[in-house]
Amino acid sequence: MNNILPLVTHPDERLRRVAQALTATQINSPEMQQLCEDMIKTMYADDGIGLAAPQVARDARLIIIGKDAVPSHGQDLVIFNPELSNYSLKTAHDEEGCLSVPSVIGDVERHVGVTLNGLSRTGQPFTMMLKDFAARVAQHECDHLNGILFIDRAINIRTTKKRGAL
Ligand code: NI
Repeated sequence: MNNILPLVTHPDERLRRVAQALTATQINSPEMQQLCEDMIKTMYADDGIGLAAPQVARDARLIIIGKDAVPSHGQDLVIFNPELSNYSLKTAHDEEGCLSVPSVIGDVERHVGVTLNGLSRTGQPFTMMLKDFAARVAQHECDHLNGILFIDRAINIRTTKKRGAL
């Protein structure tokens, strides 16, 4: 059975830590596989398109990117120990929110293209080139693993009735 997990919200200090990398053995443990399922369920329950483990109070370098952000992949992306590289020179500002920073949005400058490397759900090496919105979500989620929130980078921070999605 999969569970909706409580979200950690700003200014909780747990959002400000550098999360721990995982070994292949840890990744393949029943507990970690359950966490993946629970995070996916939690993300969709909150209308999210991305989620990082610190947002559900887990000290783990694990991110989820919803399949709607990566249509070519056809399923939710589950990446352990993600690393970004090949940042495009081109950047763009766009609106972001965050499930951990309710009722606030802001405009964040992100690279429009990145390469996402890491380990798959089964601990296998994974690489994917991401563009535009998918690249934005990946940068936002990887920031979470380093204790960085979008409000640290955003301009024009404003309140909203919309729910944050990342
Ligand atoms: Ni977020």
